[in-house]
Amino acid sequence: MPSDRPAARRRFLRFSVTSLLCAPLLAQHSPSAFAQGKPTAAPLKIGIIGSGNVGAAVGELWVKAGHEVMFSSRHPETLKDMAAKLGPRAHAGTVAEAAAFGDVIFLAVPYSALPEIGRDNAQALSGKVLIDASNPVARRDGPVAEEAMANGIGKTSLKYLPGVRYVRAFNPVGAGDLRRLSNPGTPSIGMPMAGDDAQAVKTASRLVRDAGFEPVVVPLARAMDFAPGTAIFGRPTPVEELRQRLAPAR
Ligand SMILES: NC(=O)c1ccc[n+]([C@@H]2O[C@H](COP(=O)([O-])OP(=O)(O)OC[C@H]3O[C@@H](n4cnc5c(N)ncnc54)[C@H](OP(=O)(O)O)[C@@H]3O)[C@@H](O)[C@H]2O)c1
Repeated sequence: MPSDRPAARRRFLRFSVTSLLCAPLLAQHSPSAFAQGKPTAAPLKIGIIGSGNVGAAVGELWVKAGHEVMFSSRHPETLKDMAAKLGPRAHAGTVAEAAAFGDVIFLAVPYSALPEIGRDNAQALSGKVLIDASNPVARRDGPVAEEAMANGIGKTSLKYLPGVRYVRAFNPVGAGDLRRLSNPGTPSIGMPMAGDDAQAVKTASRLVRDAGFEPVVVPLARAMDFAPGTAIFGRPTPVEELRQRLAPAR
């Protein structure tokens, strides 16, 4: 029987080249990459300011996606156990330490804390992508929330956090729903996002996907469209429906 070794070698080489070319694509899209805690690209360093219901939930999703996360508190010792349970990619620190640590900052605090956080960490936060999940709620946050609801959340947040590359996301989805509905790799729930800095929106969108949701982005001026009191707020919405609801008015 004639030997087919050259043909077999060609098939092997073709398979090897195809595998090499496709590997990055597979790593980017394969759900199993998420399941193994491998990030879709180089992992990011994320500083979380406000590690309560939302900060803890989103931070945990990002640790599981392979990112380095520093959770912070004004009492960082209270976060040590949580960080230890999440493994070596999770850290606990002060607010100033998280602001310095993160290439990206996630803010999840009572909206009334924005002026103080912006003032005390101005230098560390300047130029960084900051994803804000904090909601202005007048009965809880007082005049700063009233200002945001009257003048616009984006405009007011940037007044108190000058110099950051600001994106709103995660604010209309409850912490329990974030944990329950997260589906990295094949997200079915849309995440309303608002921002005007294209590079910051790109980074934030990647992190929304890594957390298991699909970004649906509008300009920052439209952050009010998914603020407290709107139909979208507190109602996790399938991607296509969310795209329709947030489509620009014709
Ligand atoms: N709960 C939800 O389901 C949900 C969903 C989406 C968005 N949100 C919004 O996300 C924000 C946080 O909600 P949450 O439920 O996570 O609240 P939370 O559980 O009370 O956590 C808020 C955290 O903010 C920190 N904080 C408060 N004042 C601060 C200050 N001056 N400087 C630094 N840190 C400060 C507190 O940390 P320490 O006291 O440890 O320092 C606290 O752990 C709110 O604006 C809320 O409207 C909530």
